[in-house]
Amino acid sequence: MTNEIFAPVRIGRLDLPHRLAMAPMTRSRATADGGLVTGLTAEYYEQRAAAALIVAEGTQPGVRGQGYIQTPGIHTAEQVDAWRQVTGRVHAAGGRIFLQLLHTGRVGHPYLYPDGGLPEAPSAVASGEALYTADQGLLPHPVPRELTADDIAGVVRDFAAGARNAIDAGFDGVELHGANGYLVHQFLADGANRRTDAYGGPVANRIRFAVELVRAVADAVGADRTALRISPGNTFNGITESDTAELYPALVAALAPYPLAYLHVVEPTPAQRPVVERLRAAWQGPLMLNSMHHSGGDPVEDARQLLAAGTADVVSLGARWLANPDLVARVRAGGPYNEADEATYYGGDHRGYTDYPALAPLAPAAG
Ligand SMILES: Cc1cc2nc3c(=O)[nH]c(=O)nc-3n(C[C@H](O)[C@H](O)[C@H](O)COP(=O)(O)O)c2cc1C
Repeated sequence: MTNEIFAPVRIGRLDLPHRLAMAPMTRSRATADGGLVTGLTAEYYEQRAAAALIVAEGTQPGVRGQGYIQTPGIHTAEQVDAWRQVTGRVHAAGGRIFLQLLHTGRVGHPYLYPDGGLPEAPSAVASGEALYTADQGLLPHPVPRELTADDIAGVVRDFAAGARNAIDAGFDGVELHGANGYLVHQFLADGANRRTDAYGGPVANRIRFAVELVRAVADAVGADRTALRISPGNTFNGITESDTAELYPALVAALAPYPLAYLHVVEPTPAQRPVVERLRAAWQGPLMLNSMHHSGGDPVEDARQLLAAGTADVVSLGARWLANPDLVARVRAGGPYNEADEATYYGGDHRGYTDYPALAPLAPAAG
């Protein structure tokens, strides 16, 4: 009997041995000073090297890209060096790893930037959300400063440089974060983007920034080492889209000239399935799907069904990988699974990070 989960698949330059990727997850365990990942982070990813592909956590390609405390960067030589221990250990363990490049846009705060300036976004429209800090509690995101056309070109250059740095640090490729209400999504969504220039207004203008970013990064490191994550209809971080069903098919059509490693689609609710299926039909390359809803069921079973139905080529799982470093062995064994502890998602030490237990080794007869 064919098990779709365990069928190999090629994405870009990589042969994946199965179909369960590790979704990008911010863990806020980089150094507060300098945004450097540590040996603990290398251990965390090494433990999960059996993933079809690890998509490492959202990482800022510039100072203004940071939206949370203790997230790592990929814009200084020290940051690139620090990431080398992660990619080295994942590769030595036989794994494959992309880095997610994330600019959070208006989901930011002067608290995070050395110059104490405002966050930057397509328009001066606040997110309505707040920054968590350890010493000052929750700080509401301020109204951001509107990026000029020159600023936008600078952000695009930062992403291209961040992608080159990621390759230099040993990553197999980069995923551009266009989902979940951050900068790219802010350009796409008409609630956050009120611009009247070439980057705002009609759909053709609102997709411009995302397409320019993809083009610049693909030129820098190769389309086959570039991916894009999108989340049609996701209202996270105060996003509103009046035209989801028109917006995302237009974006995906505009990406046709770029044979990306994969397109990563987040499905926030079952209501977005028709849009996801339209994107699946329109996109020629590999599609990775992430479901944010599991209706009380088992995410691994959801993945099996999505693969069997042909809705996706690869499924990414977040919490399941976070809590089960040996997820592949557990899937083969039919479970059981550790449940993720939300209290240790962000910040802190090894607890809830590198101390999730593996299954006891299987008896040879069960293998
Ligand atoms: C602790 C945590 C951190 C996350 N950080 C990111 C991130 O940095 N970038 C991103 O695109 N999504 C992020 N997500 C969303 C996940 O990638 C994924 O879409 C979500 O967890 C749903 O999948 P799941 O039900 O399998 O966990 C995060 C999720 C969790 C639980």
